[in-house]
Amino acid sequence: MEIGKKINWGIIGTGRIARAFAEGLPFTGNGRLAAVASRTKERSIAFKNEWKIEYAFESYEELAKSSKVDAVYIATPHSSHAENAIMCMKQGKAVLSEKPFAVNSKEVSEMIDVARNENVLLMEGMWSRFPPLMHKLREWLKEGKLGDIRTLHADFGFLPKNKDPKGRLFNPELAGGSLLDLGIYPISLASMILGEPTEMKTLANIGTTQVDEQAGWIFRYSNGALAMLLSSLECETRQEAFISGTIGNVRIHKQCWKPQKMTFSETNGDHTETVEMPFSGNGFNYEAESFGNLLIEGKKENPIMPLDESLRIMKQMDQIRKEWNLIYPMDVR
Ligand SMILES: NC(=O)c1ccc[n+]([C@@H]2O[C@H](COP(=O)([O-])OP(=O)(O)OC[C@H]3O[C@@H](n4cnc5c(N)ncnc54)[C@H](OP(=O)(O)O)[C@@H]3O)[C@@H](O)[C@H]2O)c1
Repeated sequence: MEIGKKINWGIIGTGRIARAFAEGLPFTGNGRLAAVASRTKERSIAFKNEWKIEYAFESYEELAKSSKVDAVYIATPHSSHAENAIMCMKQGKAVLSEKPFAVNSKEVSEMIDVARNENVLLMEGMWSRFPPLMHKLREWLKEGKLGDIRTLHADFGFLPKNKDPKGRLFNPELAGGSLLDLGIYPISLASMILGEPTEMKTLANIGTTQVDEQAGWIFRYSNGALAMLLSSLECETRQEAFISGTIGNVRIHKQCWKPQKMTFSETNGDHTETVEMPFSGNGFNYEAESFGNLLIEGKKENPIMPLDESLRIMKQMDQIRKEWNLIYPMDVR
């Protein structure tokens, strides 16, 4: 990438999150939306017209091959992330793939191998790590403001308006379920703060479509710290995170996966401190900007969301699903 040139982004998929990403891109200083690809001509053209972009492709493959695109944002259901990302990387494209990175660790390993073989930038779109508030939180943790972290509570639950068994939230063919869609947020937060757990206990409600509709799990770490995490498609939960240390605790206010406000409280004292950092744009701009900067610098992965950590997180989710005996069609291919 030439210094000073804007990155030409292409989006694969035209659903809800594709639109959120398109809305966020103008708030980056280094990227512009150049192209979209859909499985149908109608949706591709409609998206192109709505977002006033230059190129609309009628297949994902055409976008992957296009010389008009530098970086691809994968906005398809989880079940397609690996296939779509690998196809784009094999055409030399940098890839930002939505969370969860893929369905299982086998797929994630393949994606990472292809990125390294093709020498292209690859990143999981864990957008919650990139807003300014999270940089501030990492600063606090680094300077030891909370002391030794002993517990973390975090959850993400919401009640979908309808329970469509064919839709991506409940359909096992699309790797539905609360863990992969929502649980990834608390797991990723715990991983960022506490690292790799040594032990895990879990329970889930498996629904009529055979995916987890609500689940909870506890991780224990080598220093005895505990993380208590929940995901739910049965009700709206607090959607907050609490990180407690020996000196003080931090509450990341609702919605903690869209972090804009946190409060520090000292354990044995009166000191409290609330920090508010509202988004500029819709929040997706931060991950896109960070990804774009790395692409311009010729880097191949992002230290804020490293590939080995994405793989480790996916292995934890494999392990949790194994405890429930929840097997997706992609696991046995
Ligand atoms: N970061 C976040 O906050 C956030 C929020 C929501 C979702 N996500 C992630 O983004 C991904 C997409 O979620 P979404 O809510 O945008 O889904 P969605 O509204 O259903 O859109 C998915 C798009 O993928 C394409 N697609 C390709 N194969 C498909 C298939 N077999 N079934 C259905 N659609 C298919 C479709 O576009 P065409 O038919 O036009 O090709 C569709 O519009 C998921 O992995 C999800 O976890 C992230």
